[in-house]
Amino acid sequence: MSQGEAPVRLGILLSGRGSNFVAIAESIRAGRLKGVEIAVVISNVADAAGLAKAKEFGLPTEVFVSKGRSRTEHDADVAACLKAHGVDLVCLAGYMRLLSKEFVAAFPQRILNIHPSLLPAFPGLDAQAQALDYGVKVAGCTVHFVDEDLDHGVIVVQRAVPVLETDNAHTLAERILAEEHIAYSEAIGMVASGEYEIRGRRYVKGKRQAGKIEKIETSR
Ligand code: GRF
Repeated sequence: MSQGEAPVRLGILLSGRGSNFVAIAESIRAGRLKGVEIAVVISNVADAAGLAKAKEFGLPTEVFVSKGRSRTEHDADVAACLKAHGVDLVCLAGYMRLLSKEFVAAFPQRILNIHPSLLPAFPGLDAQAQALDYGVKVAGCTVHFVDEDLDHGVIVVQRAVPVLETDNAHTLAERILAEEHIAYSEAIGMVASGEYEIRGRRYVKGKRQAGKIEKIETSR
């Protein structure tokens, strides 16, 4: 983002406690994460704690309950809502739902996710327990673009933590979470700047390219 440009608008999707969302919102409020604003916080779970926190921040919130609906129908509603709010970059922050391929295609290289492992190790649920059980000595978190495969897209940021002999899944998850809260804002800033290119599977910093994080056409 150069000065005078409109901020990149974030759409946050969450299903639970929302600590990553709060870390992002606090980074923006404190001026550590510049050039972005949160346009809307959406949850598929009506009583998600993260939604209540979004309201405390005075942010627009929306609920699209996913239970009992087809993935395609549900995701079409969420995508329409994101577009109606002028969202440029979608941030999954503990969104416990797989996305339809139509949704991914609607936001090409415009969806970020955070996963509590050093991908490609330990994709899927309970990544911290998987890492502990496997016996790795270093664990961590990954912020990556979302593609059609689970926990698979181009990696933007990773942060590592040691695994201690005294750890259980809970203590390891706590140590990783502290790094998640740093990593997500860092990755959003990097992507929002537009100063990168994607070479194969590699995110590479570089001069701003035309077409990066330009406004997606919306109905607003
Ligand atoms: C985090 O561990 C994140 O990596 C994973 O889901 C958890 C969400 O936590 N995708 P929170 O809701 O952000 O506190």
